[in-house]
Amino acid sequence: MRVLIVGGGGREHALAWGLKRSPSVDLVATCPGNPGTAALGPTHPTPSRQEELVQLARNLESDLVVVGPEAPLVAGLADSLRQAGIDVFGPSAAAARLEGSKVFAKQFMEGCGIPTARFGVFDDAERAHDFVRHSEVALVVKAEGLAAGKGVLVPSTEDETHRAVDRVLVERAFGEAGARVVLEERLSGPELSLMAVADGRNWLCLTPSRDHKRLLEGDAGPNTGGMGAIAPVGGIGASELSDLERRVIEAALRGMEDLGTPFVGCLYAGLMLTADGPRVLEYNVRFGDPEAQALLPLVEGDLGLLLRSAARGALEADTVRLVEGAAASVVLAAPGYPAEPRRGLEIGGVDDLPEKVVAFHAGTARRADGALVTAGGRVLALTALGDDLQGALETTYAAIERVHFEGMQFRADIGRGEVNR
Ligand code: AMP
Ligand code: GLY
Repeated sequence: MRVLIVGGGGREHALAWGLKRSPSVDLVATCPGNPGTAALGPTHPTPSRQEELVQLARNLESDLVVVGPEAPLVAGLADSLRQAGIDVFGPSAAAARLEGSKVFAKQFMEGCGIPTARFGVFDDAERAHDFVRHSEVALVVKAEGLAAGKGVLVPSTEDETHRAVDRVLVERAFGEAGARVVLEERLSGPELSLMAVADGRNWLCLTPSRDHKRLLEGDAGPNTGGMGAIAPVGGIGASELSDLERRVIEAALRGMEDLGTPFVGCLYAGLMLTADGPRVLEYNVRFGDPEAQALLPLVEGDLGLLLRSAARGALEADTVRLVEGAAASVVLAAPGYPAEPRRGLEIGGVDDLPEKVVAFHAGTARRADGALVTAGGRVLALTALGDDLQGALETTYAAIERVHFEGMQFRADIGRGEVNR
């Protein structure tokens, strides 16, 4: 089959890589793609209108379109493709509200009995401040809409909480995404990402994984898109995992069906394992980035058949097997990331890595002379598998020593907490 992937980050390179090695897949095109996906198949500029993207999928005779990022899904790209009779892996705009609106997501979880932090919703700053003053627990401040992963503020004092409310609601630091604010009880505990490939009714859970969101070692510094990921995550047994699946994946799929908006695509539950049990912090409606760069190499078999069967509403989970071992993926970021990443820095060493290491491209570009240069904040994610996490990490970090660009930032402690546990 011929597949078109929408998106151009590390997640989309990982999807392209996984699809390219699927026996059923002949062609992997990406739009816009990046130098990593360009090595696997044709790349096309992203059209500005959905109809043009539908036309591109037609011109390419795509049998399946896989939409990587959330923004086009929230904007209804999957609906447009489906209306044109093209199989698409990714939810409708109605189902993508699970990520597109934090208010919708919180009310949905409450309605379905899915465990989540207690919350209030405000569009009026005075009322929000009043809620902050009267709250007996510490609060997290969330802009209601999509804010490129930056709309969650975790203040450490009441003063900071008031300021965070003003930033979102009054200063509109996140634009219209901050027209409403969710004030939510602050939880604590290790985080876990649980992703499931879903066809609207049935699902296949992938290996539980963990992102590392802070820039610096020891979980210090600013939040980023994610500095590295590991899978699997220990500390939860098989029975706890199936309990989690039932309470956060199955319950959400049933709830979406009941609303008449079945969820087709990758349902991602961002969880916190608190002392009182697991809580859903958020749902995303696509693969995690960088979790996908760790998870997808653990999927053997035919990812293409899996995603197409989900897109067609008849999941064939036995088209893939989940590898028993572990995966580690470490992000190499540009100097200045996340505030102002430097572009145009020459990258060396990517082309002579050991075979068992995969370098997923994200913020890279080809200069006119063919040299690979930085072109974004998260530049590359290096992934290796191992029999266990320690082995996977050792291989990944050994490979990182061979890659260089000026001011390269990475965390040396990805997965360390898990190895030491
Ligand atoms: P979200 O985009 O909702 O996943 O939030 C981004 C990050 O903010 C999460 O990965 C957590 O680290 C943190 N976060 C979100 N909600 C809470 C909460 N209720 N309590 C503590 N931390 C949170
Ligand atoms: N790794 C977090 C996310 O993809 O939202």
